[in-house]
Amino acid sequence: MNKDPLLAILEQHKDEYISGEQLSVALSCSRTAIWKKIRKLMKAGYHFEATPRLGYKLIGVPDRFDMLQFVSHLRTARFGNRQTYVEETSSTQDLMRSLIPNGAMEGRLVIAETQTSGRGRLGRSWHSPAGKGLWFSVLLQPTVPLRAISQLTLLTAVALCRCLRAETGFNIGIKWPNDLLIDGKKICGILLESMAEDERIQFVIAGIGVSVNLKKEDFPVDLHPIATSLRIAANDRLFSREKILASFMHEYETLYDTYLHNGFSPIQQLWEQMSVTLNQYVRVQQLNQTLEGFAVGIDEFGALLLRQANGDIIRCYSGDTDR
Ligand code: BTN
Repeated sequence: MNKDPLLAILEQHKDEYISGEQLSVALSCSRTAIWKKIRKLMKAGYHFEATPRLGYKLIGVPDRFDMLQFVSHLRTARFGNRQTYVEETSSTQDLMRSLIPNGAMEGRLVIAETQTSGRGRLGRSWHSPAGKGLWFSVLLQPTVPLRAISQLTLLTAVALCRCLRAETGFNIGIKWPNDLLIDGKKICGILLESMAEDERIQFVIAGIGVSVNLKKEDFPVDLHPIATSLRIAANDRLFSREKILASFMHEYETLYDTYLHNGFSPIQQLWEQMSVTLNQYVRVQQLNQTLEGFAVGIDEFGALLLRQANGDIIRCYSGDTDR
């Protein structure tokens, strides 16, 4: 792919100013067009100093996901062995979906440096700045009924939690159903989307976002009270995205194979051990109602079991918990 001509000039002059006038002459376009292109580069993770009479100074380029390094860490039979890497896409979920008619197989990995319309659970959007996080999707083709999808969601959370605990040493916990938290703040998101026919799953696209090297200012202000990154939690230490993703692929493949051979029960036990939701009184916000009770466990389909004051147990299949 040819390099953007503006970027090529700015990189030649890295750490020195080059005026808007010089750039517009070199690229035969207006200074407004230059400013628009600079803004686009800033969105893609490039950092500039802009000073009225001096022009623009490129001071930082985004970290790029290094596929060779990822492959050198990868220890799996299928997961992540075929990859599609893009600088930018609307959502890795959509990109993966478009690969299915062309024969994408189980374990296929799609990773993007940034997403323009990353999406989360319950119709929310997912903030995915360039070069800072892991925004990716993995294709699964399990031969299980559609109602088992929530088991796969919990399995994904367990695999991610085990991987991140091992890679960072942090005490990461799972909030039902599948948010991973450090000190009460969200570090990753998981979104499973499926295609099914006659109640049987054909494909599952597991979409995962991990806030790896984001700084506080990389998050929108409204997320500051509820979201964090590995870097923030580690007092500004940077983590290798390639190593984390390779380790996750290994953990994911291993747990997925355990699930296919031995069922949900071993996954359920691991989930319960890592959960921060259990053994306390919780409220679950659903679309039209709020359920509450003492969280005693999950059932074989991943529903949260809430004990009521009279001893009755109610099952909660979806929603957002307050802890
Ligand atoms: C959530 O917590 O609400 C789930 C967030 C899932 C975000 C990931 S990022 C990669 C993949 N592509 C998307 O558009 N969403 C998922």
